[in-house]
Amino acid sequence: MLISIEHVGHTFDAGTVRAHSVLHDVNLTLTEPRIGIIGHNGSGKSTLIRMLDGLILPTQGSVSVDGFDTAKDAAAIRRTTGFIFTDPDHQIIMPTVSEDVAFGLRRSKLPKDEVAARVDAQLVAFGLKQFSDQPAHLLSGGQKQLLALASVLITDPGLLLMDEPTTLLDTRNARMFGALVADLDQNVILATHHLHLLADFDRVIVFDEGKVVADGTPSETIPFYDALMEN
Ligand SMILES: Nc1ncnc2c1ncn2[C@@H]1O[C@H](COP(=O)(O)OP(=O)(O)O)[C@@H](O)[C@H]1O
Ligand SMILES: [Mg+2]
Repeated sequence: MLISIEHVGHTFDAGTVRAHSVLHDVNLTLTEPRIGIIGHNGSGKSTLIRMLDGLILPTQGSVSVDGFDTAKDAAAIRRTTGFIFTDPDHQIIMPTVSEDVAFGLRRSKLPKDEVAARVDAQLVAFGLKQFSDQPAHLLSGGQKQLLALASVLITDPGLLLMDEPTTLLDTRNARMFGALVADLDQNVILATHHLHLLADFDRVIVFDEGKVVADGTPSETIPFYDALMEN
């Protein structure tokens, strides 16, 4: 994975009286398998992470993922990138649990029984097998977030973008989710306030007021962020 973020700035509602500048001259080259993004509420984490698969386009500068510019080739990027939102209700789209997991394979051209077998294995792996035919909306918050992850991972993305995926979960479910994430083969970029999830990460980037204010290993940057919170 090679993500290039060059001179990126972002202004919401540019050119109107509500213009609001939220990222300022961000320059990053992201190659490490596991990268954390931390910072206060409103520091620009979600805006940045949404830029990485073209959900938001920068109003200044450019973002490319493996050579694809998000402003021109977002479709190509999304074919190999998964996104997990804070609220799983925003991404669970099919009525039942098994249908939601199967949805990601709808264009796979795999034979029906192969799709069924893969869906079944995925449900078992995520502890959701017993809920296969249940309406997805009846799952608990933690189970819904596991379902969202199962449904994204069945497409085998090379890169998983996650925006505070454990913020709405209770401690137990957040731990379970964190343990699953720790075992993934995918490249992961994770924005979170749950700093313990980042202890083994390769790199953690701290944002403050739309700028990168620290960038390094977790043991370098997390204490910096702690100090920033004190002020
Ligand atoms: N769609 C939007 N329109 C206008 N302002 C926005 C929009 N989305 C986010 N913002 C503002 O941009 C700033 C950064 O937000 P965000 O990227 O969500 O930060 P974080 O994820 O770190 O909390 C905040 O001040 C927020 O209010
Ligand atoms: Mg956010």
